[in-house]
Amino acid sequence: MSDEQKAAAGSRAAELVRPGMLVGLGSGTTVHYFLEALREVDFVGVPTSEETARVARSRGVAITTDPDRELDLAVDGADEIDAGLNLIKGRGGALLREKLVALIAKRFVIIADESKLVPRLGAGVLPVEVVPFMWRQTARRLQGLAATWELRGGESKPYVTDNGNLILDLTIPGGIAEPEKYARVLKEVPGVCEHGLFIGMATGVIIGGSRGVRELGSVH
Ligand code: 5RP
Repeated sequence: MSDEQKAAAGSRAAELVRPGMLVGLGSGTTVHYFLEALREVDFVGVPTSEETARVARSRGVAITTDPDRELDLAVDGADEIDAGLNLIKGRGGALLREKLVALIAKRFVIIADESKLVPRLGAGVLPVEVVPFMWRQTARRLQGLAATWELRGGESKPYVTDNGNLILDLTIPGGIAEPEKYARVLKEVPGVCEHGLFIGMATGVIIGGSRGVRELGSVH
């Protein structure tokens, strides 16, 4: 993981923002670099977390959380990216709002350092946002999907999302062989609000690497 590479990807994405745009603002450290690199602030941002809203406001960006039209662009980070540009997101805890924002964007551009590229999703944990009510029952159901789980933050001080929910981090031994199918099955589990698999959603990826910045898919 490299801060320099994240910063390089963030700066490249900042060039995509034009006056008058409606832009989804993701969450995480790479997005912070993107926000720092913005020269254009004459746009409206749609933040995916309270933290991003705070940073965007401090930079003079107008924000809304109730956009009335499609977003021109959304820029976000990712935890894992496979060759088909499918993603795991949510290790920063903002996956539900990130997905809602990405779903209404014409272009969903991911920024990341090269450590995020993986041959198969599921090398690390898959975050799942669940309702607090009877969360142990939800965890048990998830365990039935060939996964082990951990409550983020632990039982004595659980991590609570901006939506007042909990996060279960799933470990899937051997990774996720069929991400699309796994995503569908997860959605059907009662108690699950959203999961961190973003399948077929990214239109393009900007990777900061040891040999400079490169683009995958369609960024512009
Ligand atoms: C937050 C996310 C982040 O985009 C993801 O965790 C990447 O974070 P970072 O840029 O700090 O590596 O999904 O929910």
